[in-house]
Amino acid sequence: MGQNFGTDRRAFLRAVGVTGGAGTMLATMGALGLAPTARAAEVPAYRAPSPGDFSLTGRAAASVVVVGGGIAGLTTAYELGKAGYDVTVLEARERTGGRNFTVRGGDTTTDTLGQRQTARFSRGQYLNAGPARIAQWMLTMDYCRELGVPVEVFTNANADAYVFNAAAGMTAPVRHRTAKADVYGYVSELLAKATDQGALDAALTADDRERLLTFLRGFGSIGGRTDGWRYTGGGRRGYAEDPGAAGTPGTVLGDVPDVSEVFASGVGRYLSFELGYDQAMLMFQPVGGMDRIPEALARAVGGRRIRTGAQVTDITGSADGVSVTYRSGGRTRRVTADYCVAALPPNILARTGHNLGAAVQTALEACVPSSAGKIGLEYRSRWWETGHGIYGGITETDLDLAHIWYPSHGFLGERGVVVGYYNTGAAADAYGALTPREREARAVAHGVRIHGDVYRTELASSFSHHWRQTPHVEAAWHSLRGGPDAPVFAALNEPAGRVYFAGDHLSHAIAWQHGAFASARKVVTQLHARVLA
Ligand code: PHE
Repeated sequence: MGQNFGTDRRAFLRAVGVTGGAGTMLATMGALGLAPTARAAEVPAYRAPSPGDFSLTGRAAASVVVVGGGIAGLTTAYELGKAGYDVTVLEARERTGGRNFTVRGGDTTTDTLGQRQTARFSRGQYLNAGPARIAQWMLTMDYCRELGVPVEVFTNANADAYVFNAAAGMTAPVRHRTAKADVYGYVSELLAKATDQGALDAALTADDRERLLTFLRGFGSIGGRTDGWRYTGGGRRGYAEDPGAAGTPGTVLGDVPDVSEVFASGVGRYLSFELGYDQAMLMFQPVGGMDRIPEALARAVGGRRIRTGAQVTDITGSADGVSVTYRSGGRTRRVTADYCVAALPPNILARTGHNLGAAVQTALEACVPSSAGKIGLEYRSRWWETGHGIYGGITETDLDLAHIWYPSHGFLGERGVVVGYYNTGAAADAYGALTPREREARAVAHGVRIHGDVYRTELASSFSHHWRQTPHVEAAWHSLRGGPDAPVFAALNEPAGRVYFAGDHLSHAIAWQHGAFASARKVVTQLHARVLA
């Protein structure tokens, strides 16, 4: 309809409006790209397979072997299980969840370099080594609701956390709020001056100009025309001494840097992060650790359907089924099923035996693994709360530790785990190449530059995790040139015979659990429709 529909569009919409009412008309307009609508109007709502689907067709639920017990694999098994499919999940590691990995005291890992760590976190303390934040629009929230996983706010942006740019010569960190006040202030001053001097007259009417100036006065907290639109700081920057009782108005943070100092310091480069669709507050986390999600999924799937320690060595499809070979406890075993869903990392599948064809192999090899690492630093006291008034959130730096995350739970409590680095790419590889002890020393030495000696003296223990070095995963996420819908990936977005592919890499939300949920739902929908056909 799209192409030759143009001239009759209004008539068509009127007809839809008359017969279906305004809601239907809006939904139709949304589908045609003519109206901003809720996603629900554009994408058919997901419908989970149900046993009743089979009663009218005379078909029966098929058997499905799912390779990979991460979020995509567990979700595939969970959703198919709702309709009574005979599902078997094969997971190479001893635990399910994939990159959704919460580290608690007593947990042990051995990386691909043979480095062994045991976490010594105290009771109630944890590190979400993989996913750690959820945006409100994400399917992850819907699964938490459905699975009964309680969530709490995750502080992704905090005006009282810091910015620290060593390369700009900063010797002390600047509060996020101070950076924001100065950057917004000077940007507003400059734009107001340019506007008032007529530099934007070609783009703005006289009314536009006045409205823009009114907006900028509030946005930047700048003076008016008679003050030359000047930014001179103010309470937004923060207080050296906080306002108190009558007689104690507090002392506004002074020493407002000039405009060139502010831009030279680079403090503005972190301010847009919180505007991202996937990073904007409010964000959420499961109470008690992110792995509450795969735990609940695995429970719903049923332990007897999940085989851990099952390392798949071959996937062979044929006209009437799929045979999957795996190693477990030193023995070679095999499962056969009507269908297979390959929900393991593409870099791992690329070196697993299969007969799925050259296009599949080329696509798998085009998924480029990325690096990321984190260290959890458990402290004996919550000095960031008592000493800095920071309750969650992130300090942004240009150091190789990149980000410092303060815990979003256990406020006002005794101990807490700070994420001492969450870095990617070369910085993650540099830390990954060190021993766990060396990683801690490096992260702490950098942290001391921001927080002082307390960063070292209050440290109780640490645990670090690097995804490129994690057996059977070997990637934090993947980058797909041109996105998952680029032609080279077509072979993974459709079944290869009876084998389907799922994972966050096959979504438009790579490096998010949302992507894994969405991909699993897509595959489940396709597979179920085929079984019913
Ligand atoms: N989801 C991950 C995170 O929030 C990785 C990511 C970072 C993805 C930034 C997109 C944008 O840290």
